[in-house]
Amino acid sequence: MKTLIIYSSLTGNTRKVAEAVKEVFGDEADIVPVEEKPLADGYDLIAAGFWVDRGTADKKAQDYITGLRDKKVALFATLGAYPDSGHARKSMDNARSLLDGSNQFIGSFICQGKIDPRLAEKFKNLPEGHPHAMTPERAARYHEAAKHPDEADLAKAKAAFATIRQKLREGSL
Ligand SMILES: Cc1cc2nc3c(=O)[nH]c(=O)nc-3n(C[C@H](O)[C@H](O)[C@H](O)COP(=O)(O)O)c2cc1C
Repeated sequence: MKTLIIYSSLTGNTRKVAEAVKEVFGDEADIVPVEEKPLADGYDLIAAGFWVDRGTADKKAQDYITGLRDKKVALFATLGAYPDSGHARKSMDNARSLLDGSNQFIGSFICQGKIDPRLAEKFKNLPEGHPHAMTPERAARYHEAAKHPDEADLAKAKAAFATIRQKLREGSL
């Protein structure tokens, strides 16, 4: 069974998750940044990772995901919001909906990732009432995001993909 792990990552959070996924598959997987536009031919599973940009997969990941055909696909992502939030669910659903109908979606994983300090700084300077203005709730979320992905996130990512790998081997996916 051959797996292609392709990931898009601006600041390294999603790359860390991709590397954790690679540990699960070992030599059965190739891990390639999306910029290299790897061909999906010959792989049984495509594990595609993205960072959440305005509620969906970032543009580079979108372009790759929309081009996939006839593949088993699992998605993983990092985002600033809490992973159990409606926003996280919606963002993953939005990315999933980019998949062509010929593919089989077989699972996903999402966790928090620290927000680029330059973006956080920009938000800090927005006027009160602006949709992205700093509020105590938002500051708390940023503070929490700054610790992620942490070892527990990477362990959860590995567990999620170990289950997928097992099911694929058993032929139940
Ligand atoms: C331009 C921009 C837009 C973002 N949009 C969102 C968003 O809509 N929702 C969210 O939860 N996080 C958002 N984030 C936070 C990133 O998804 C998060 O920090 C992610 O872990 C970055 O991953 P990377 O280090 O792999 O690039 C945004 C970050 C940037 C820079």
